[in-house]
Amino acid sequence: MDITSKTLLLCFALGLVHGAPTAALPDRCAGIEFDAITPDENGVMFFFKGPHLWKGFSGPAQLSTESFKELDDLHDIGHVDAAFRMHSTEHADSHDHIYFFLDDKVFRYYNHTLEDGYPKGVQEEFPGVPTHLDSAVECPSGECLTDSVLFFKGNDVHAYDVATKTVKTKSWPHLPVCTSALRWKESHYCFNGHNFTKFNPVTGEVTGNYPKDARNYFMKCSGFGHGNSRKQKCSDIKLDAITSDDAGKTYLFAGPIYMRLDDIRDGLHPFLITRMWTEMTNGVDAVFSYSDRLYMIKDDLIYIYKPSVPYILIEGYPKTLKEELGIEGNVDAAFVCNNKHTVHVIQGEITERMHNVDLTATPRVVKQSFPLPITGIDAVQCSEGGVFVFKGSQYYEYESAMTMAMSRIAAIPNNITSEMMGCED
Ligand SMILES: *[C@@H]1O[C@H](CO)[C@@H](O)[C@H](O)[C@H]1NC(C)=O
Ligand SMILES: *[C@@H]1O[C@H](CO)[C@@H](O)[C@H](O)[C@H]1NC(C)=O
Ligand SMILES: *[C@@H]1O[C@H](CO)[C@@H](O)[C@H](O)[C@H]1NC(C)=O
Repeated sequence: MDITSKTLLLCFALGLVHGAPTAALPDRCAGIEFDAITPDENGVMFFFKGPHLWKGFSGPAQLSTESFKELDDLHDIGHVDAAFRMHSTEHADSHDHIYFFLDDKVFRYYNHTLEDGYPKGVQEEFPGVPTHLDSAVECPSGECLTDSVLFFKGNDVHAYDVATKTVKTKSWPHLPVCTSALRWKESHYCFNGHNFTKFNPVTGEVTGNYPKDARNYFMKCSGFGHGNSRKQKCSDIKLDAITSDDAGKTYLFAGPIYMRLDDIRDGLHPFLITRMWTEMTNGVDAVFSYSDRLYMIKDDLIYIYKPSVPYILIEGYPKTLKEELGIEGNVDAAFVCNNKHTVHVIQGEITERMHNVDLTATPRVVKQSFPLPITGIDAVQCSEGGVFVFKGSQYYEYESAMTMAMSRIAAIPNNITSEMMGCED
């Protein structure tokens, strides 16, 4: 065959001939087994299949090389084996960089640009990790014991410690072969066929009803979905509690659900409170963070949790509010400001009052009480920006807890916006 007819044939195969319809793109709603899934540094999710990828949870397929152009340096490969976004706060040079695996090579990208020195051999970059992987997924410290990456090949999982560059190999035959794996919102998912299974990244344990169809959760397909994906209107929002912990995680609570507000780049998504705090089956009245612990109040009980995924209830809890804080009756909101040792507890039937309790004292008792200028408070958050008091779909801003307690009239309220809580304006 001469060059011209060869080129012509190739053009036909790729549907590139001028005027001809483009080759049919794969349809993920038809039920696809992905080769790899990973978010990029902006939280945009990429789903790979053969030479194609999908960007985000909706939209058509496109060629992978349009987004990651050097991926076809190894001609005729036409697929990605595995991909993940590195989490390593200790190794800032690789933090949030994306790794792609093709046969025995690894490509490292940042800002959608291949970095100098790549591709490298898999063994060179990740000693002890096999080539021709099925999938890979990061597991930050807190979810795994140390910052780690899990590499899957068949039923084996190779847990790679980022700091020590050591590998521990385990076998999880109860999991399907993970042709792609994904960490999203502090959970780990193994994909096989068009199904996925949520697993514990340390033990491989699966709890709950799996596998589930990925089309109901990880992409928008007509005829699939939860049915409750409609966003709440900002004007309908009513919080029960809001808090930021020492690690900078910000949680809001409303009815049976919670939402993380700080990892907004991966999208805001409501989850059941019991996913993270097993014992809180009836929601919360107030939540505050103090000294690496999360304090959750419901009715006259207080639950203290240690951070983990899911959070761990401290032994001996719940206790009564009377016993723990010297407070009786229902609580509307509670907050501690950064590096302070006073919890401000807000309660009241007709007039709202703020009680200050010194958390370093034993026993703990109310030291001061102030009437507040606002009634019907739902939740309060204290951050570096000041004190934010939430009431229905509005919030009030004060410089400090003391300025709030000392002011005789309510400040001018602001409306909760979609940027703050992902609701619909
Ligand atoms: C990211 O890449 C684009 C071009 O691809 C460039 O204009 C931009 O400066 C880069 N950003 C960073 C932070 O390197
Ligand atoms: C997907 O999971 C369902 C059960 O939820 C199962 O019946 C089906 O065989 C699975 N399909 C594939 C392709 O794994
Ligand atoms: C808040 O929203 C209401 C309508 O829901 C509107 O009338 C009001 O002007 C808004 N306030 C501010 C400060 O934007």
